[in-house]
Amino acid sequence: MRVLVTGGAGYIGSHTVLALLGAGHDVVVVDSFVNAKPAVVGRLEELSGRTVPVHAFDLTDTARTDALFAAEPVDAVIHFAGLKAVGESVAKPAEYYRNNIDSTLSLVEAMLRHGVSRFVFSSSATVYGEKAPVPYQEDWEHLDSSNPYGQTKVMIERILTDVAAVNDGWKVALLRYFNPVGAHASGRIGEDPSGIPNNLMPYLSQVAVGRRERLTVFGDDYPTVDGTGERDYIHVEDLAAGHVAALEHLDRMEHRTRAFNLGTGTGTSVLQLLHAFERAVGRELPYEIGPRRPGDLPASYADPSRAEKELGWRATRTIDDMCADTWRWQSQNPDGYPEG
Ligand code: NAD
Ligand code: WQD
Repeated sequence: MRVLVTGGAGYIGSHTVLALLGAGHDVVVVDSFVNAKPAVVGRLEELSGRTVPVHAFDLTDTARTDALFAAEPVDAVIHFAGLKAVGESVAKPAEYYRNNIDSTLSLVEAMLRHGVSRFVFSSSATVYGEKAPVPYQEDWEHLDSSNPYGQTKVMIERILTDVAAVNDGWKVALLRYFNPVGAHASGRIGEDPSGIPNNLMPYLSQVAVGRRERLTVFGDDYPTVDGTGERDYIHVEDLAAGHVAALEHLDRMEHRTRAFNLGTGTGTSVLQLLHAFERAVGRELPYEIGPRRPGDLPASYADPSRAEKELGWRATRTIDDMCADTWRWQSQNPDGYPEG
């Protein structure tokens, strides 16, 4: 298939572009580069040996989005583009709602006009809210989120469900990611957050490379294996493979819209991840115990059985693989991608 990958210059999108090309699909990327550096495109071309067409504009621009569909016929859309920082979304809710909702509506309207009806969406485990029991199962009905970022995911799931319900031929996979980490095995592409990382793995890898002094563990009094928060970390290459599986499943899908958890099904604590990262680096890393971070849950992990049964996909890479690949990327690119 020829696939429009929105946000294809970002962390998960870039890995998925490679997975799609590797599986024999063609890609067209659209990215505003609000949270990505152009240098990633050259790396994708180097790794794939292919030219990757990239359109640099903001999808909230409905006219440009429509013009893109007119110029580049595609069979499907994988929609990664969006703003994703939880804390920033609390501080700037209007910006998050505007960007994430409007870009999706612009895409949906262009798809309706141009007869494109296959859609794979980047949702998140955050839609399970604070009341769902772990392991999270897709049929939990009370979708909710404690922050505006997460609310955009809940709303977009609703929008896509409603659009698919009244448009024959539409097939939508809502992929609820758990905690994506790791990097391409080559060490050439990986996660490159701007500013101080919000998430554990990129923070840890910046401590290891000497860009941050020490990790602060956000609370050690949770009811978990060692008191620190447990999360379902999933290797970004497994996640990318999950997108290819979902895309190829759409035409066989019984439902017009179907949610799938993409996780491993296993929780790993902050200290367990720290120690795995120390094994990858080959030395101890400095850390301190700090207070809980407001809004954090004790534990979040998937029941991944639906994706295994229906998509024939499951995550295969271990926590040690995730740390080794993150470290290869971070140590080879201590300051992330070059500017320009
Ligand atoms: P990312 O920021 O690296 O990638 C998103 C890309 O979208 C960036 O390259 C950015 O420049 C682009 N973008 C943002 N708004 C745009 C717009 N209006 N028009 C065009 N391009 C735009 O993030 P990521 O980690 O690769 O996440 C990809 C998707 O997966 C996001 O939708 C995110 O919410 C979702 N997700 C991420 C995680 C995670 O922990 N990384 C977890 C669950 C879900
Ligand atoms: C993991 C664990 C922290 C940093 C977030 C979003 C979620 C999803 C993925 C997009 C927690 C602890 C962290 C640090 C720490 N994104 N931690 N010290 O919060 O599970 O999920 O990213 O959809 O919506 O909320 O991920 O990596 O921030 O935290 O101790 O410096 O690490 O308390 O237990 P989280 P995270």
